[in-house]
Amino acid sequence: MKVAIVGAGSGYMPGVVRGLLHRADDLAGTELACYDIDAAHLDVMTRLAGNMFAARGADFTVSSHTALKSALDGASYVFTTFRPGGLAARHLDESIPLKHGVVGQETAGPGGFLMALRSVPVLLDIAAKADPGAWIVNYTNPTNVVTDAVARHTGARIIGLCDQFIGDTEMWADLLGLPFDGLEADWIGLNHATWAQRVRLDGRELDLPLLLDDLEVPGGGATPWRDPSRMAELAKALGFLPNSYAKYYFFHDQVVDELRAKGTTRAQDILAMLPGYYEQVAAESRRPDPDPSRERGGGEHGEFAVDVICAMHRDEGRRMIVNTRNNGAVSSLDDDAIVEVPALVGRSGPVPLTMGPLPGPVRGLTQAIHAYERLAADAAVTGDRRTALQALMAHPFVRSKHTAEKILDEGLAAHRDHLPQFA
Ligand code: G6P
Ligand code: MN
Repeated sequence: MKVAIVGAGSGYMPGVVRGLLHRADDLAGTELACYDIDAAHLDVMTRLAGNMFAARGADFTVSSHTALKSALDGASYVFTTFRPGGLAARHLDESIPLKHGVVGQETAGPGGFLMALRSVPVLLDIAAKADPGAWIVNYTNPTNVVTDAVARHTGARIIGLCDQFIGDTEMWADLLGLPFDGLEADWIGLNHATWAQRVRLDGRELDLPLLLDDLEVPGGGATPWRDPSRMAELAKALGFLPNSYAKYYFFHDQVVDELRAKGTTRAQDILAMLPGYYEQVAAESRRPDPDPSRERGGGEHGEFAVDVICAMHRDEGRRMIVNTRNNGAVSSLDDDAIVEVPALVGRSGPVPLTMGPLPGPVRGLTQAIHAYERLAADAAVTGDRRTALQALMAHPFVRSKHTAEKILDEGLAAHRDHLPQFA
């Protein structure tokens, strides 16, 4: 079995290697074809992987590729995990909307839209070059827009990943005073816009409204990914659990003020720590039993992706939350929408489980986000400026046509080199 890793020089790669070690017995004999456009980072990560596998006696072979086609040839799974344009482009995505009073975020809103315009052409190229029966296992953001574009505009098979629900479920366990082990929430909706009305502990349904009535809103504790105070406040109002990104919708203007006051973008913050991070990983990669930093992608990120590949390869039929075609699973969204839902993942891909409608208070919001995503995917494929403008006008963050136009014009100009479809 061959797995291609596109973006293997990524800072998240040590976590992927740890995930592979975790399932080394189940994937024994697998060839990992590592590809990246950054030859130096690719070199560090392939050496790291080789030494970590050797130290633990894991039966993987690692090859290094700077040509995409040779990495993809013969691969049954193509794991895509890269940021097109890197963090410099992410900085623009985060700062251009903010100039116009709109939340600047990597995946949500106009920032995610600009990222989609860059990601989709690269994914379409990968889909065209991959072997016909291959599965694309995609982490590249915005994962659902990318998945939608590839699913509707190519013949390739694709599954969209995000590990958000794991960290979110962990946060809710903490807030509600429940053990994380054995806690299962039915997160449904769209990537970074999911909601959970049903929660079980060891298979037993919990009375969520009651738990939320008793919940006391904590102060502080926010990280770059999660703001437990706002999440608790929202959940008490809604009566069910929101995904962490709900703060961008329900506290939009306060977040704009905070991002402006902060002064640096998340991309700049990461860029500042990255040289030290790669230095540590490079030093470890030369040691016989490397222990690379967990500062990037150190959580469940890599393990989750490897578990998905395992579930398909071994036909496990395992229940996992993934992005796939709706087919009626969420009755409030189009059948052909790419939704994030619990699914049984086996050899023939994910089979979404029937989940019913979205909760009333967020039904319209989620449908609006879907309308935006569909237009964003189409704009990213076709390079049609009018569709692009419509996408931005459809997004709940954007409340003025002129704002949409300004963000679009600036975004297209700033990212010109990564947008061949708009040339
Ligand atoms: C979460 C999201 C990912 C996103 C990441 C950004 O994990 O689910 O989709 O890429 O956060 O994290 P970063 O540390 O790069 O800001
Ligand atoms: Mn995500």
